[in-house]
Amino acid sequence: SANKKLLILPGDGIGPEVMREVRRVIDWMDRRRMVSFDISDDHVGGAGIDAYGEPITDATMQKAKDADAILFGSVGGPKWDKLGFQLRPEIAILRLRKELDLFANLRPATVLEPLVDASTLKPEVVRGLDLMIVRESTGGIYFGEPRGVEELPDGQKRGFDTETYTTNEIERVGRVAFELARKRQNRVCSVEKANVMQSGLFWRQTMTALREREFPDVELSHMYADNCAMQLVRNPRQFDVIVTSNIFGDLLSDLASMLTGSLGMLPSATLGAVQASGKRHALYEPIHGSAPDIAGKGIANPLGQLLSFAMLLRYSFNMDEDAALIETACTNVLRNGLRTADIMAPGSARVGTGVMGESILRELDKLAA
Ligand code: NAD
Ligand code: IPM
Ligand code: MN
Repeated sequence: SANKKLLILPGDGIGPEVMREVRRVIDWMDRRRMVSFDISDDHVGGAGIDAYGEPITDATMQKAKDADAILFGSVGGPKWDKLGFQLRPEIAILRLRKELDLFANLRPATVLEPLVDASTLKPEVVRGLDLMIVRESTGGIYFGEPRGVEELPDGQKRGFDTETYTTNEIERVGRVAFELARKRQNRVCSVEKANVMQSGLFWRQTMTALREREFPDVELSHMYADNCAMQLVRNPRQFDVIVTSNIFGDLLSDLASMLTGSLGMLPSATLGAVQASGKRHALYEPIHGSAPDIAGKGIANPLGQLLSFAMLLRYSFNMDEDAALIETACTNVLRNGLRTADIMAPGSARVGTGVMGESILRELDKLAA
């Protein structure tokens, strides 16, 4: 049916390159599975600045609010690095998260069997890894007030940001983590620095109380963020669901991505609250950025973007079967030995973005036959 409103925002750098491969899969679904979407797209980030003079316009924000799901590429690049803070391309994704109240950023890190050798860690440490990081994404130091740069009496300047979390902000992301854990191994590890931060201690106390009140059946542990970074490298399989603040989740999810072989592989979903109408805003994006160092070369890995689309099908449209088809196609292509340049595993062929995308289509043809 054509009522699945999808907004596609490719952004900058490799964003449009990897999004092109997703569009081919969408066309394939239209042809072969009779699924059609009501698609619109728009320029955001540096592309938004070039087209409209700002990273994301009010009109684009309105389209995002009207959409059933948003597929986001990545934004940013050296071309726009000298603009003022309010004109940074990154404002596009931050404004989307904030104004659509997309507070729960789900960042899974799973090691696909064909890529156990791609991790910088030993295969026996990462084999079978299936970890979910739930990163709070509308609060914390990313948005806390006051923030700015001020002049000091002695002629120096001072730059400052504020880490803040309210009860509600912690509880709602905590609920997402506990509910996910119930469908997995039933274990949540809450990560903060309660030893040095007031907001960290408050986070820990709030999570503890939330578990006692609403999720006594789920196991909850606590860990300092610095230790968590170390434990993720020492023995990542000890974790099931990690729930943490905006900034710690940003760092720990990039770290976790290398356990799986490449940052270019990992998808994410950012979800808002379920509204009275039953609608839930949701945005899907790979965790990687616009990769200016390889943009335009045709060598970017499109799988993180494609797997983000699979997450979109699963979470926003309940299209589990189609999502599984895409995920299986990705695994099979890797099993067949195809590798983009970022995947550090032995394989039979190094291929570019387009060939990787074509191979996915061929694999989908086989799976759907
Ligand atoms: P990055 O993720 O863009 O790149 C880090 C490294 O990983 C680079 O060497 C890059 O070539 C490689 N890489 C990333 N994705 C890849 C892929 N799909 N295939 C192959 N290699 C890949 O991070 P960065 O260099 O720190 O940031 C570049 C720009 O992207 C900055 O402007 C940053 O703010 C922005 N950024 C945007 C998002 C987003 O839009 N959600 C996320 C992260 C960074
Ligand atoms: C991410 C990115 C963003 C973040 C930037 C581009 C604002 O690094 O999605 O991980 O820090 O959240
Ligand atoms: Mn990041």
